[in-house]
Amino acid sequence: MGSSRSDILCFLVLCASFLVPASCRSNSHGALFIFGDSFYDAGNNIYLNTNIPKLNIFPYGETYFKHPTGRASDGRLIPDFISEFAKLQLIPLYLQPGNHHFTDGVNFASGGAGALVETNQGLIMDLKTQLSNFKNMEKQLRQKLGASEVKTLLSTAVYIFSIGTNDYLVPVTSNSTVLQSYSKKEYVKMVIGNITTVIQEIYKIGGRKFGLSKLLPLGCPPISRALEIVRTGGSGCMEEVTVLAKLHNRALPKALKELKSQLKGCTYSIFDAYTAGTAIFNNPSKYGFEEVKMACCGSGPLRASITCGQKVYQLCDNVSEYFFFDGIHPTEKANYQFAKLMWDGSPEIVKPYNLKTLFEK
Ligand SMILES: *[C@@H]1O[C@H](CO)[C@@H](O)[C@H](O)[C@H]1NC(C)=O
Ligand SMILES: *[C@@H]1O[C@H](CO)[C@@H](O)[C@H](O)[C@H]1NC(C)=O
Ligand SMILES: *[C@@H]1O[C@H](CO)[C@@H](O)[C@H](O)[C@H]1NC(C)=O
Repeated sequence: MGSSRSDILCFLVLCASFLVPASCRSNSHGALFIFGDSFYDAGNNIYLNTNIPKLNIFPYGETYFKHPTGRASDGRLIPDFISEFAKLQLIPLYLQPGNHHFTDGVNFASGGAGALVETNQGLIMDLKTQLSNFKNMEKQLRQKLGASEVKTLLSTAVYIFSIGTNDYLVPVTSNSTVLQSYSKKEYVKMVIGNITTVIQEIYKIGGRKFGLSKLLPLGCPPISRALEIVRTGGSGCMEEVTVLAKLHNRALPKALKELKSQLKGCTYSIFDAYTAGTAIFNNPSKYGFEEVKMACCGSGPLRASITCGQKVYQLCDNVSEYFFFDGIHPTEKANYQFAKLMWDGSPEIVKPYNLKTLFEK
């Protein structure tokens, strides 16, 4: 799309001067490397040989792509919008077969992933595996482009993460006992500690700009509300898991602030998805939504069971009215609103920098 003209320019420069067109590749916008869970996975999981449910089934993808892509939404995800705002092409998947064009970035995310290896272990690529895939890619790139060019590519790139949701939601919704083996504070500390380690490792290889998000109030997606109905007969959000999200959200900025003081030249952005989500859940119509409690696609109470596209499910008439496409994953419309705030939102919602500023720095 947008890069065809610069490709031609690179070609001309190459032919005219026999120089390696480094200036062409390190264009005005840095690359985008994507890590995390189903909020960011644009289809890697399709290629995994595990029993994790694959989301390349209709009606996932119906709105924008007109076919399922493995994205957990009716259309685009946040990273799709970020790459568009940054004037990059759609970022290729790490696991996609065929020739890779890595220089605009790579998507390493895997639906179901957590920061802890125990979260959905054996089913997905956890954050550590995503990191080793990133290291692998870096080696390949170095052979192709040379060390100094890769260094430039990595240091001007932005690294975005969506991680943590599954570390809290999976144990609570599966009634696992893992949360009883730790205090809430200890558990959160492990999650944050593992995120911190991955950022440090990427920094060592040359990464400098990191974009993270706080977690949504995790008790409020349909899947949590439905569990609350079953467990207590209540009709609200499930406090038990929102409490964990709040602890996580308090610890994350502290950890990043400390990292920045240790790692020279490191900058970051934190998007406050908790505040943004709460604002929408409390006043849906202000943001153009009519339904924020029930999923558009799925089955059971609130259509919260993630059976969308399987044998028996219901699909809403008008997806534009909904915040959640299935029991946990936002619609394209919701993803767009969040991506826009991450990109050029004000410091009340994204700080210390928004992603636009991070790309330009
Ligand atoms: C969850 O586990 C507790 C004890 O481990 C048990 O009492 C409860 O019935 C379980 N709930 C569900 C929904 O499985
Ligand atoms: C990372 O998580 C593991 C559990 O998966 C834990 O044992 C370890 O202490 C954590 N690392 C940090 C630095 O917190
Ligand atoms: C679908 O919902 C959106 C948002 O509420 C509304 O603007 C649009 O007119 C609706 N479309 C139909 C066909 O009802």
